[in-house]
Amino acid sequence: SFGLKTDFIGRAIHYEEEVDSTQKIAHRLATEGAVEGTVIVAEEQLSGRGRLDRKWHSPKYSGIWMSIILRPNLPMQKAPQLTLVTAVAVVQAIEEVTGLLPQIKWPNDILISGKKVTGILTEMQADADRINAIIVGIGINVNQKQDDFPEEIQQIATSLAAESGQNMSRARLMQAVFARLERLYQTYLKEGFFPIKLLWESYALSIGKEIIARTVTGDIYGKALGITEDGVLNIQQANGEIVQVYSADIFINE
Ligand code: BTN
Repeated sequence: SFGLKTDFIGRAIHYEEEVDSTQKIAHRLATEGAVEGTVIVAEEQLSGRGRLDRKWHSPKYSGIWMSIILRPNLPMQKAPQLTLVTAVAVVQAIEEVTGLLPQIKWPNDILISGKKVTGILTEMQADADRINAIIVGIGINVNQKQDDFPEEIQQIATSLAAESGQNMSRARLMQAVFARLERLYQTYLKEGFFPIKLLWESYALSIGKEIIARTVTGDIYGKALGITEDGVLNIQQANGEIVQVYSADIFINE
């Protein structure tokens, strides 16, 4: 309707003023057979959620809070790769629309000047060991002022407006995300993960740097080498040993 440049992503859009979470609606629609590319977008989420059961602050009219339904015909072990495809697409869209230079913090945070501007949450519905649907949740802080953020995330969160000094059209940015995601997703389906991995690493903040990976079983210190096919992070410790990290919060060790 508003200058759509895509074949399937965003062709069917469910627009809501207020929801608990667009993820929840997307899960229901996917179960009911929604077509690939269906998008659920809301002006406000009352209980937006993030990874690891965290809350995702989603105030009215300030950001893009949306969930996209994909239906790749793939085994479920490939699902994490779609998170990385999405991260690259969002970085490219932000770059294109704002001129800002975002970076990716493994596994899927997007930062500008070291502060988080976007979070991605991918969830899966599987049939035996095949993917039935991937629900790609994307939250982009667009027009918040720095002091709109809750006290406890003031130092670690930012918005595109706070970084660029001007308000942005959320519709335009959403279109750019649709177009970039559709393109990269098709590349991924045709050529596999390798081209995505190269792009992802080129935007990654921590590759080649000394980091601390805070895992549930303790901190791991070392140099971030890169990601594997499964989206696992390889870290080389001081003794030369390489460890694989599946889930952690990453800090640059300065
Ligand atoms: C994270 O960084 O932990 C992921 C945040 C994901 C937030 C988005 S906003 C749209 C969608 N609906 C939700 O409840 N969460 C995702």
